[in-house]
Amino acid sequence: MANRSDSEEIRSNIIQFDKCLEFLEKAGKEYISSKFRICREDHLILFKLLIYFYRDEVNAKRHSIDLHKGILITGPVGCGKTSLMTLLRFMLSPKEQYIIKSTRDITLEFIQDGYTVINKYSKAAFQQTSGELSPKSYCFDDLGVESNIKYYGNETNVMAEILLSRYDMFISRHMLTHATTNLSASEIESCYGNRVRSRLREMMNVIAFDKEAKDKRV
Ligand SMILES: Nc1ncnc2c1ncn2[C@@H]1O[C@H](COP(=O)(O)OP(=O)(O)OP(=O)(O)O)[C@@H](O)[C@H]1O
Ligand SMILES: [Mg+2]
Repeated sequence: MANRSDSEEIRSNIIQFDKCLEFLEKAGKEYISSKFRICREDHLILFKLLIYFYRDEVNAKRHSIDLHKGILITGPVGCGKTSLMTLLRFMLSPKEQYIIKSTRDITLEFIQDGYTVINKYSKAAFQQTSGELSPKSYCFDDLGVESNIKYYGNETNVMAEILLSRYDMFISRHMLTHATTNLSASEIESCYGNRVRSRLREMMNVIAFDKEAKDKRV
């Protein structure tokens, strides 16, 4: 299955890259915005995401992507992180699906429901699939925009707690976590502490847009 591609780096026996781009652009126009189009400068990022979701082991090795971890997409405001994670879901089987949940919404849920929310998104995040209990994958959208919350006087970093718990579940039950963020690694550390930063590194592949990637909102 040869693919036409003008970039040396984008070659795969598994991924029909041109077809995937066509599909994503069509879905983007339908579900994101009529102006949606795949930009050439995003091809490599898209290729890496497709390597991951298509489990292309040869390219995963070449691009240092660990297929057992989740994905952390980093990049400046408006570069298209959330849109990509939304569209890629259309290409996945039910078993591979993840739920996209904004960190702001989780924080608001915590204010309303308290500590049960931390369990809901970590230790209790299991679903019944074909008679088996399997871990729910989440994509936490916009890590770092939420703030510490005081709940009955206790200051809690809800997302840090959820990520720490999900890390334990990643180790014991292979629970996958994806996320998008505007933060750099050092900003993640100042937001969540180095224990979280170190665990994120262990449970996610970082796929980074260029710092200069343009804001697609303007
Ligand atoms: N490939 C694209 N072509 C045209 N418009 C796009 C494309 N990708 C995203 N957009 C539009 O650009 C805007 C920003 O996209 P998106 O929300 O995915 O960015 P983001 O990186 O998640 O931003 P933020 O960091 O603020 O969360 C949206 O309005 C979306 O409709
Ligand atoms: Mg976003």
